[in-house]
Amino acid sequence: MGTGGHRSWWKHGVIYQIYPRSFQDANGDGVGDLAGIRERLDHLQWLGVDGLWISPCFPSPMADFGYDVADYCDIDPLFGDLSEMDRLLEEAHARDLRVLLDLVPNHSSDQHPWFAESRGDRNHPRRDWYVWRDPAADGGPPNNWLSIFGGPAWEWDEATGQYYLHSFLKEQPDLDWRNPELVAAMHDVVRFWFDRGVDGFRIDVIHRIAKDPELRSNPVLDPSRGYGGQRHIHDENHPDVHERLRGLRRIADAYPERVLVGEVYLMDPAEVATYYGKGDELHQAFNFSLMQTPFDAARMRDEIERFHALVPPEGWPNQVLSSHDARRHASRYDHPLLGEARARLLALLLLTVRGTPFLYYGEELGLRNVEIPEDRLRDPLAWTLHPAASRDGERTPMPWSAEPGAGFSPAEPWLPLGPDASTRNVAVQREDPASLLHWYRTLLAFRRATPALEGGAQQSLPAPAEVYVYERRLGTERVIVALNFADEGRELDLGAGAVLAGLRSDPSGALPTRLSELRLAPCEGVVLRVGS
Ligand code: GLC
Repeated sequence: MGTGGHRSWWKHGVIYQIYPRSFQDANGDGVGDLAGIRERLDHLQWLGVDGLWISPCFPSPMADFGYDVADYCDIDPLFGDLSEMDRLLEEAHARDLRVLLDLVPNHSSDQHPWFAESRGDRNHPRRDWYVWRDPAADGGPPNNWLSIFGGPAWEWDEATGQYYLHSFLKEQPDLDWRNPELVAAMHDVVRFWFDRGVDGFRIDVIHRIAKDPELRSNPVLDPSRGYGGQRHIHDENHPDVHERLRGLRRIADAYPERVLVGEVYLMDPAEVATYYGKGDELHQAFNFSLMQTPFDAARMRDEIERFHALVPPEGWPNQVLSSHDARRHASRYDHPLLGEARARLLALLLLTVRGTPFLYYGEELGLRNVEIPEDRLRDPLAWTLHPAASRDGERTPMPWSAEPGAGFSPAEPWLPLGPDASTRNVAVQREDPASLLHWYRTLLAFRRATPALEGGAQQSLPAPAEVYVYERRLGTERVIVALNFADEGRELDLGAGAVLAGLRSDPSGALPTRLSELRLAPCEGVVLRVGS
């Protein structure tokens, strides 16, 4: 696995997120699995990414589809077994692809043996691996904390006469990182996977592994808004989280080239950036700000500049447009006429802006969210919150071909395929050089061949309304990216300088020869390597 000179895979490469239930079903049960991922490594290699992150594939009752782990050191039989994971690691590494797993440290499943012991006996040594408290004076929950997935964050346990804390479902009890034995056990989990050759972790809701030790109630701003009506000053983002993160980082640093990427789901990017520490906490904190930004050049520029300014010099930003928790961006930014042009423009943004891009499986096809009939909804949020809160629409199977089952599975898939699966799929788009799939591949290759895009500094340049222009620079290499967010054409004069090479997102457009005469079609963008 060469990393070659300046190139560090997690900084300069591109990572592809796989939701394992939905990528490829190798054993014909309608649910994706590890053998399926292994069979499809060709696709990832052909596309040109550097690594993959697999959402949880550990034994789980699947109350939250794997984010409720019942054994941190094994594989759920639905997905395969440990030897299948070993094969996947081996074959991925042979293709120079790194593998990130998903660490879920804030909570386990209520079916984890640790919780069974903790729940079974108030005096069990593992009782305090979870957060148990006596009722308040009125017999109700110990404080006013609410679950992110609806209802109170406390569940009454009749048998032992106490409440336990759960930030998410009641089937996901929160682990107590104030207990040193629990911390040691989680460190062993991390070492277990590093020793097997895993290259890093995406860490789930890391900002919740420390809460107020006194369990004080949150201030309530608007009781009618439930979770959203509280100021979450006591149930997340406690300063003690950083010491725990440093503990995890010390383990990662004891192995070569391992990486920790954290989900810090806080609305304030300045707080998110503190999770980089002094280069001794996360390697990357997910920057979710683009997921909340409208299709608007100035707003996108402001968000990107803001996050870049906040990431400390030892840190490295990342960029993401879609995930298993958010509406797919091709749907978010869809447009009756310019939907495809917009998807091409955003791919150009994501793959040229400073920071490690995370792609979400299927975005390279322009996959939209799929409308799921109510009787086929699977995400628990559909019941605990509202059917509209379900995340199933962004978790549907990957369409590979026009065959029945879209080449994903010969069986009825666990979630329905999109209505356009027979036309919007990998096989069809591979045949068409003008497809979005080819555009992603071309951009990935251009990025890899252009060190300024992978690792260079970034600066915004003046631009007309609704256009975002930036420069990436490394040594003498200079690259200009111009993105037209308007639904009409734009003329640009980017000054002197010759165009040496480049790409434009409109497949029919020819490259300009001079920076001073650039014309962009509606929702079109260019990336240009320029000389003086
Ligand atoms: C994270 C995951 C999400 C999961 C939640 C609880 O936000 O991304 O899918 O439901 O944590 O583990």
